[in-house]
Amino acid sequence: MKKMKKMKKIIFGILGLTIVFTSCNNPKDGAINSNIAEESYIAPGELDEYYAFMSGGFSGQLAVHGLPSGRLFKVIPVFSQDPEKGYGYNEETKPMLNTSFGFIPWGDAHHPDLSQTNGEIDGRWCFINENNTPRIARIDLETFETVEIIELPNSAGNHSSPYVTDNTEYVVAGTRFGVPVPQKDMPINEYKGNFKGALSFIKIHQETGEMDLEFQIIAPGFDYDKAHPGRRESHGWMFFTTYNVEESNTLLEVNASQRDKDFIAAVNWKKAEEYIKAGEFTTMKTEYAHNIYDEHTQMATSTMEKEVKILDPSKLPGLMYFLPMPKSPHGCDVDPSGEYIVGSGKLSANVTVHSFSKMIKAIENKKFDGEAYGIPIINFEDALAGVVKQAGLGPLHTEFDEKGNGYTSFFISSEVVKWKIGTWEVLDRKPTYYSVGHVMIPGGNSQKPFGKYLVAMNKITKDRYLPTGPELCHSAQLYDISGDKMRLILDFPTIGEPHYAAACPTNLLMEKSKKIYHLEDNHHPYATKSEEETRVTREGNEVHIYMTMIRSHFAPDNIEGVRIGDKVFFHVTNLEQDFDIPHGISMMGANTSELLIMPGQTETFVWEPKKVGVWPFYCTDFCSALHQEMQGYIRVSPENSNVEIKWSLD
Ligand code: CUA
Repeated sequence: MKKMKKMKKIIFGILGLTIVFTSCNNPKDGAINSNIAEESYIAPGELDEYYAFMSGGFSGQLAVHGLPSGRLFKVIPVFSQDPEKGYGYNEETKPMLNTSFGFIPWGDAHHPDLSQTNGEIDGRWCFINENNTPRIARIDLETFETVEIIELPNSAGNHSSPYVTDNTEYVVAGTRFGVPVPQKDMPINEYKGNFKGALSFIKIHQETGEMDLEFQIIAPGFDYDKAHPGRRESHGWMFFTTYNVEESNTLLEVNASQRDKDFIAAVNWKKAEEYIKAGEFTTMKTEYAHNIYDEHTQMATSTMEKEVKILDPSKLPGLMYFLPMPKSPHGCDVDPSGEYIVGSGKLSANVTVHSFSKMIKAIENKKFDGEAYGIPIINFEDALAGVVKQAGLGPLHTEFDEKGNGYTSFFISSEVVKWKIGTWEVLDRKPTYYSVGHVMIPGGNSQKPFGKYLVAMNKITKDRYLPTGPELCHSAQLYDISGDKMRLILDFPTIGEPHYAAACPTNLLMEKSKKIYHLEDNHHPYATKSEEETRVTREGNEVHIYMTMIRSHFAPDNIEGVRIGDKVFFHVTNLEQDFDIPHGISMMGANTSELLIMPGQTETFVWEPKKVGVWPFYCTDFCSALHQEMQGYIRVSPENSNVEIKWSLD
């Protein structure tokens, strides 16, 4: 049954050293079981067991899938404009994409993470980082909408982010690239010792979810790659993997791989809180955008924040330590007990595990192996818990089940490997198709995993789907991990790059999922709550249309008196109060997207008419049997015309 059909050789060369790794990859492996289809099959009308939030990577968005079916339910726009929903195009949400660099229409979304209470996923919010222009977004899990985005100053390549602590006290953001802090004009080759690595701690308001950049630790200019908070006993600590402790500024594939070991940076954030409280910080002038969407006014505002509290770990004892970790580690994961810190050297064949209690003992004994920029380095053997030996090639990320097992992805040997915490023995391995990055188990990075399924997120698709030209969709794969052996039960395509994902049981979200926006709670300043209130006003060359939509007409639907040179604001309110009755609107020649307006919601787009004539608008969402009749006209007169503003619906 499991014939090795294809021998795949992966040649991996670095520094003139060539490792030849041979693995047996059968593309059909795992899908031969006769009833395999039933295991991920959700019959028509039935519902999935888990919500999965899968990042869109370079699409900048967040996709909501069901598990085990893999079905796509929604693409939540986060860091990129979305013409389908009007996000980043309508006047209400444009401020969400404001930054200290101005309006940015795109982002690179990497790691979704769900809010937690007592180390368990609680279904309040989903956080996700933006890599390119460092930001963190918060998605409300009642509305499934992006409600907040905060920019991070002094940071670049926000990769070790957002990772939520046990009670969602903080989400974190470690800079992947060392940069001058504060930014300044200087020679690039003076990087070493001069560039810095900012580790940002963003405090979460427990009632509202609002994010505040509480403080930044200005650490040495290494590349802070991934992060994971401590759990239980190690709660209060945050662990970051680093690479490029060589502090090279060029040809990193060679120059950042010189040393045998890089570090895991262990940060005691409770200690940081003490230092903040004691006033042992400096305040740095800076600039970063903080954008909040208010559900009551249905509008986003962007505020430019001006300063940040800075902690210097070289001067503050007990704040930060370095744990040596072999071979340019990437993933940094903490098991549900909080005792084990798993680092994956991406140029290694082993998975190295450090012990939190041993680390604390080494700190208490003040037994260090030197220091780096004033930060103590713990002796490698003193904190070492164990090594999963020769588990595969190129370990990246580890998640956990509730039975004491770790599951590590191996990029180079393209497989998922299951191993036992404590004995460090390999229990099982299954190929992925191909080149897996992250793996995700629902709750798998919390204290309470739901170890029934594992999703592998692959970087290369090749022959798994029908070809679609040079660009292929990225592939996710679902494994049943409920038994001793993992079983591949489904492939499903994703949007963008499914970089990482987070998932939770549906009962956490289904009941509270919002169905409509109540009209009486709509405090949008341009809302129109009945057809009687609809009107068109002129203020100089600004024309404001207060419009409503309901099955199956707009009010008003005939408008005259608009002129060339006007700026026409469509403020459109959907009067429906039934679940799943959105309407859309678009205007011929408008240089923006449609609006897709949910029941009880108001949205605005701007149209600057360029041609004299009578121009139609229409509903873009098939809303009723008379959807095609849901249309109207606007008469556009020359600039010097004296046609008066007039509106009607008969
Ligand atoms: Cu309203 Cu179609």
